[in-house]
Amino acid sequence: MTTHVRTERLVLRDWSLDDVDAYAAIIADPEVMRFIGDGKPRDRSQAEAFVRTMMSHQNTRGWMRFAIEHAASGRLMGFSGFDDKDGYLDFGWRLGRDFWGGGYGFEACSAALWVGRTTFGLTGILAQSYPENAGSIRIMEKMGMSHVSEKQVDGRTLVVYGFPEDDPDGIHE
Ligand SMILES: CC(C)(COP(=O)(O)OP(=O)(O)OC[C@H]1O[C@@H](n2cnc3c(N)ncnc32)[C@H](O)[C@@H]1OP(=O)(O)O)[C@@H](O)C(=O)NCCC(=O)NCCS
Repeated sequence: MTTHVRTERLVLRDWSLDDVDAYAAIIADPEVMRFIGDGKPRDRSQAEAFVRTMMSHQNTRGWMRFAIEHAASGRLMGFSGFDDKDGYLDFGWRLGRDFWGGGYGFEACSAALWVGRTTFGLTGILAQSYPENAGSIRIMEKMGMSHVSEKQVDGRTLVVYGFPEDDPDGIHE
């Protein structure tokens, strides 16, 4: 299993089927899923499908939404990393509630960005969030992203953020 990077407190690594139970517990939590898609918790079969998709990506192109492991305990904390959408790379993150509020989100996302850029040469990275997800938007800002646009999905507004260095024409507001 590939370890992509270690930080002071975290390990960003590949996924394995051993992660399914811990990931299922994370996405069964309504608070974690509150600002994601329809806001509903997900079940174990959805967790397993996600982990299998990540394993497929790591075996083919190497990058995906990297698994985040708590270095001291070995626990799976969630993910941070990239997904290919229509013509752009979506940068996303999700941590179990046990790990909120201690700076892990920013630490994990900064590390994932470093891996994406340095190891895999990724460009054209965007992130999106519901505007009321203040923690997520703060992580975008702290990573140096700026507001690009807004879009409507199922009648709700999403804000889209990007990196100025990915946008030489300067479309940012
Ligand atoms: C978003 C998430 C990753 C934040 O993780 P975290 O470890 O608590 O974040 P950090 O501790 O690194 O905090 C990063 C910054 O956001 C701020 N922040 C975090 N949560 C916040 C909240 N709920 N409200 C306001 N600010 C918040 C922190 O104060 C910090 O800013 P600062 O350095 O200026 O003080 C975590 O809450 C999560 O996984 N949420 C559920 C999944 C999700 O919503 N994913 C994003 C979908 S777009």
